[in-house]
Amino acid sequence: MAKTKIRYLCRECGRQSPVPLGRCPSCQAWDSFDAEEEPRQPARPPGAPDGGRGALRLSEIPAGDAARLPTGIGELDRVLGGGQVPGAVTLLSGEPGVGKSTLLLQVARGAAALGRKPLYVTGEESAAQLRLRAERLGMDLGGIYALPETEIPRVLEAASSRWDLLIVDSVQTLRVPELAGPAGSAAQIRESASALTQMAKDTGTPLWLVGHITKEGSIAGPKLLEHLVDTVLYLEGERDRPVRILRSFKNRFGAVNEVGVFEMTGAGLGEVANPSELFLSERPAGAAGSAVTPVLEGRRPLLMEIQALVSPSPLPVPRRQTLGADVARVSLLAAVLEKKVRLKLFDRDVFVNVTGGARIAEPSADLAIAAAIVSSWFESPLPADLVVLGEVGLAGEVRRVGRMAERLAECARMGFRRVCGPAAELEGVQGRFGLRPVGVSRVSEMLGPRAGLFAEPPAGGRGGRGEGGG
Ligand code: TYD
Ligand code: MG
Repeated sequence: MAKTKIRYLCRECGRQSPVPLGRCPSCQAWDSFDAEEEPRQPARPPGAPDGGRGALRLSEIPAGDAARLPTGIGELDRVLGGGQVPGAVTLLSGEPGVGKSTLLLQVARGAAALGRKPLYVTGEESAAQLRLRAERLGMDLGGIYALPETEIPRVLEAASSRWDLLIVDSVQTLRVPELAGPAGSAAQIRESASALTQMAKDTGTPLWLVGHITKEGSIAGPKLLEHLVDTVLYLEGERDRPVRILRSFKNRFGAVNEVGVFEMTGAGLGEVANPSELFLSERPAGAAGSAVTPVLEGRRPLLMEIQALVSPSPLPVPRRQTLGADVARVSLLAAVLEKKVRLKLFDRDVFVNVTGGARIAEPSADLAIAAAIVSSWFESPLPADLVVLGEVGLAGEVRRVGRMAERLAECARMGFRRVCGPAAELEGVQGRFGLRPVGVSRVSEMLGPRAGLFAEPPAGGRGGRGEGGG
């Protein structure tokens, strides 16, 4: 009898190796290799699997889009691109406790409310725990079916009868009995997910898979599955804050980078109708180091607050730390301020946070980050009715940003009255939106008396603190 060969598979990224490695060369994960039996070579002849039978002209294939099923949760439908597509497989990832199970139980409720039949396969929690959660959500318990199961053959068997929606929570608990290795190992996750995906495609049932990611942001499982599924969504948020942001990273049926904003309440995840208001709700009045900027999240403009803290550093190399903003971008802006505005930052720590658990990836927030840093440096608050936007170049020039009109409309809607940004572009919107433009073409102009943003122009010298003006 042929000896079965063992190979090793990284549970983070699926890399194969003939020997177990301490650290994965592909994804740098430590101790991530699981043993598995190498599959025998399949006895399939080369060439087209079915000799081309079953091939269709594109024109003969029915268009699927009309059949989208809304989940009943507006913010989720937005991220999905208008609802679920029959047979589509969606992976919902996020850290434990962020609210994945809660959201999917609400999806099941939405389906049941429309007269559809959802099955919730629970491997993490017992059926009784699921019921408790549903009660907590104030749900009508009659329309939802639960299956506490982790063995793939039994899940498939149950799932093969007519369901309108299938939720599997989570992929890390599933097991294919023929495969060696515990639930959660790379081979188990991959095989379980492919079996379920195949079933979803065959039956046309929309399938949701839950995948946990670890605290360090490394994705045990979900990364292995990204190519297998149609849509990858991440639910993000901090434990001690109610805001949850749902992002799409891959979507075969819609735009990526679309976001949905939710709030964790005592009765599940609530949709946030006015995210800008939520992100600005804790903005301290008259505090130095705070600036508001309109950011585009997908197609939607949202106002976010940026806070900066500049303080003397005890370290030979001062810190540049961020939460929700790119640390390299902040270091670069600090260097531009140092060089072009002669703001002494080389002996200061600079901390920048985007409040409310949000994250900014757009360079359009550069000028607002710079304004928050300057404001903190001089302990001089920015006007409360001001928004700041613009990209900052290495020469200190303030560059234009895209979709200005939509951003400004959101600022006006939220009651802001002044906008500081690229001079050339703001001239064009003069008078529109009822926002008074404060045009700047260089970052240094923001500090000048003409802009009038800082109560006392820093250049005028502010005793001991003003040595950085210029
Ligand atoms: P959960 O959906 O279990 O997270 P995940 O499936 O991503 O691990 O959510 C867990 C947290 O949410 C838990 O700490 C309790 C809290 N929660 C609420 O605040 N309100 C609710 O209505 C529910 C159901 C949970
Ligand atoms: Mg859960």
